[in-house]
Parts: sequence; C-alpha cells; structure tokens
Amino acid sequence: MSIDLATTPATAPADRTARPPLSPNALRRIVRDLAERPERWLHRVRLSAEERWYERLELAEDYEVWLISWLPGQSTGFHDHGGSRGAFTVALGELEELALAGPEHGLTVRRLPAGSERAFGPQYLHDVRNTAQGPAVTLHAYSPPLSEMSHYELRAGGLVQTSTEGPEQW
Ligand SMILES: [Fe+2]
Repeated sequence: MSIDLATTPATAPADRTARPPLSPNALRRIVRDLAERPERWLHRVRLSAEERWYERLELAEDYEVWLISWLPGQSTGFHDHGGSRGAFTVALGELEELALAGPEHGLTVRRLPAGSERAFGPQYLHDVRNTAQGPAVTLHAYSPPLSEMSHYELRAGGLVQTSTEGPEQW
C-alpha cells in the first residue's frame, strides 16, 4: 500500500468518550520539562546491543511517556504512530531523522543534537537513527497512548507499508 501524505485522512478517534488528545505542542512541553529533570529518568537508562532499549515512564488516560536509548547504528525504520500525536527530545547524544516533507518534496534529513525537539501530528511518518559515534537517549510523549504502529519501506514509488504491531509486541 502506498501512502499519499497529502490526502491520507486523519485517524478518527476510536472512543468518543475518551479525553481529547493533547496537542503536539503540549506533548513537546512534557518531554522538554522531563529532559530538564534527569533525576526522574537518568537512573533508568539501559543500553542494549540487541535493539533500541525502551521503557514506559508514564501512562495516563490521554498520553504516555517513553524513555529510549540508542547505540550507534540503531534505528527505528520508517514508521507511523497509529494516529497518535507525538513529540520527542534528544536528552543525550545525537540522532538523525528522515521524513518525507510531502509527495512532491522528497526526503528531509535532520540532524538532532542534544536539546533538539520534534513534535508531530497524527499522520506523521519518520525514520529515526543513531548515526553518531556514541549512545543517545530520548524522551517521547504520545497522545492518545500508542495503540499500534505500522512500519514502512522506502521504495522508488514512495513508502510501502510492510507490517503493523500492537502493544503486545512492545
Ligand atoms: Fe516515531
């Protein structure tokens, strides 16, 4: 399945009784505030040679917060966030983010040194990777809490969905 980023509709809320999702900017404030308080998460960081290491720090009705560590070479591959809004900040180290600016605009590559913040809406797809020489640590917030994520491969015609995973895989 090819994704046309210009026309893909927003994911409808599954449960109309749930609280409305937080905005990307509100999520950005959450990760920024947490990054400024390393006593709340630094002691929980682990590094794993097998894959990115991650732990959920907080789960509320309308958002969740994750801590992720990245060794050099570790990456997510292109993925979405199942319709959740999100934000993340690089607390330690440096990462690189690849994203499609739109069907007409091709691939955008951003260096994300420590202190960088990114915030995005429900349709955002990206690939985040550690291409630096040392480990990195990031803080992420999603609203509503992630319910599923799909993975994509970048091919000549655009991004092609290859798999979907749910919380049971996390
Ligand atoms: Fe992501």
